[in-house]
Amino acid sequence: MNSCYLKNLLRLCDFCKEDILFLIKYAKKLKFKKKINKEKKLLKNKNIVLLFEKESTRTRCSFEIAAFNQGAKTTYLGPGNTHLGYKESIEDTAITLGKIYDGIIYRGHQHTNIEKLAQYAKIPVWNGLTESFHPTQILSDLLTIQEIFINTPLKKIKIAYIGDARNNIANSLVEASQILNFNLTLVSPKKYFQKEEFFKRYNVNNSYPKNILYTEDIEKGVKKVDLIYTDVWISMGEKIELQEKKIELLKNYQVNQKVLQLTENPLIKVFHCLPALHDQKTKFGKKIIKKFNLKNGIEISHDVFESNKKIIFQQSENRIHIAKALLINCLINNFNKKIK
Ligand code: CP
Ligand code: NVA
Repeated sequence: MNSCYLKNLLRLCDFCKEDILFLIKYAKKLKFKKKINKEKKLLKNKNIVLLFEKESTRTRCSFEIAAFNQGAKTTYLGPGNTHLGYKESIEDTAITLGKIYDGIIYRGHQHTNIEKLAQYAKIPVWNGLTESFHPTQILSDLLTIQEIFINTPLKKIKIAYIGDARNNIANSLVEASQILNFNLTLVSPKKYFQKEEFFKRYNVNNSYPKNILYTEDIEKGVKKVDLIYTDVWISMGEKIELQEKKIELLKNYQVNQKVLQLTENPLIKVFHCLPALHDQKTKFGKKIIKKFNLKNGIEISHDVFESNKKIIFQQSENRIHIAKALLINCLINNFNKKIK
């Protein structure tokens, strides 16, 4: 019996450590098979729907191509394409999709929406991002970390996340750190520290786990880490009227050359899930850089982004291999796990 079979992935802690490590290993093999053009189609006759209430480049493309490469059919329902939320409830949409498809990839707002969707759809539901979690991003980042730090086990990697420490990327990184037991520092204004009750599920009675540190102090937070992770300061769906106050608080938390020096690690690596605001080539980036007199980018400076381009786009590429591993493991009960 395959332990992921018919499982939802709403947040990383829906999967145990063994499942996560297996998915990464399996994704690595699928990546190799795709490169040598020897991929077998295991998802023929499967139908998958992407129900997205927010925009996406990477998540949509990686799941669609993962499904296509494996012989499955997909339907993309983008923002405004369905009756959901306007003329139809989540419950009725979920029951309908559950009768037509074998699995749902959902991107949306509140996390409770995806929980309701999974409850009523009765087919596997995978989280392609909610305001609270982004598990498929972090799963694929774990694959990228293994590729970069080839000789170091995941539990030995020290990571500092800088930015909004309560957003979906930060929360999923925190969950990964609890499941895989690596050290994680979250560097952020205090207002964006995750609440201690978030950690209740990890049995640490209202306190932060030992391998987690929230700090406002950049120097303390990044010293001797192997990897810095950052994300946009304003996530999709955040209220426009609150954005300026948030940027005002975060404006000293840019990942730039000075921050890299503070790590005292000449081999430091920088991750970003993308999209990134590192220059003035976007309308939003241009406006914010001007208004807040930020130099050389918003959450990440342009020179740091350019110097880590190789890894940041490797993160994007790996989304497809993890998506594929996830779809196969959740939709097929018996398959050859030992692909060479
Ligand atoms: N990182 C990520 O999820 O990118 P998209 O928003 O483009 O899907
Ligand atoms: N925190 C970002 C992640 C984008 C992939 C957002 O929710 O917009």
